[in-house]
Amino acid sequence: MPGTRFTDIRRFASVDSTNRYLLDEARAGAPDGVVAVAEHQSAGRGRLGRRWEAPRGTNLLVSVLLRPDLPSDLRYLASAVVALAAAEAAEEVAGVHLGVKWPNDLLAPDGRKVAGVLAEADLAEPEPDGGELLPPIVVGIGINVNWPAGDADLPEELVGTATSLRRLADRPVDCGAVLAALLEALEPRAADLGNPPGRLRQGGDLRSACLTVGTPVRVELADQVFEGTATDVTAEGHLLVETGGQTRSVVAGDVVHLRPRD
Ligand code: BTN
Repeated sequence: MPGTRFTDIRRFASVDSTNRYLLDEARAGAPDGVVAVAEHQSAGRGRLGRRWEAPRGTNLLVSVLLRPDLPSDLRYLASAVVALAAAEAAEEVAGVHLGVKWPNDLLAPDGRKVAGVLAEADLAEPEPDGGELLPPIVVGIGINVNWPAGDADLPEELVGTATSLRRLADRPVDCGAVLAALLEALEPRAADLGNPPGRLRQGGDLRSACLTVGTPVRVELADQVFEGTATDVTAEGHLLVETGGQTRSVVAGDVVHLRPRD
């Protein structure tokens, strides 16, 4: 994408996972800004060890390699900026308004999921050049652009929970145009990660876009499930949930919106 750091775009007809590919490239010293995009993934990765699947050529499956100068407790902002840029792209290309479900799913106004983000980092791996490169974060996003076209396309467990830009816009949507708009919107947001006022701005944008705040939620942790009302996202990206008269801070886990925010 001219005028951005995203000039090295690697396109795959098929790959196991664009995240896996870029993590390996990062280990070999690939710089900030490399992009991998695939028409099909044979082992697409989702959050919490899940799989991410879409029929060939229907949806946008893309990962970006970022090496932001970010304090470790603010690294969640790298995935936030990708989600926010994708929401901008959906608005621009398909005229569809999406909100963020914590931590960074994109939801349609009816609460169905349109996109998911998976950030992966390999902080333990030493850099081959002796440490001059900043540590990498690979942020992958799967955007349901043209699939599902309707509920009949979906496996039973996703009926009623997933939708696509095509469905929302009521017309086919060009994956290439969504990618171009996403990378263009991502450039200034990624630049913001490198300085304190920029980080504050991106954290603020995330809070404004976050549909989870103000919503009754069920929080599903590895060893426990509880319900409450989400009240805020902290500067470190943790979700605050009021439950039984106390406020709990959720660092990672699955959150279910029990009903859309009024
Ligand atoms: C989620 O579970 O919601 C996150 C899904 C992330 C999927 C994307 S598709 C492109 C990139 N490559 C992967 O293997 N996963 C991410």
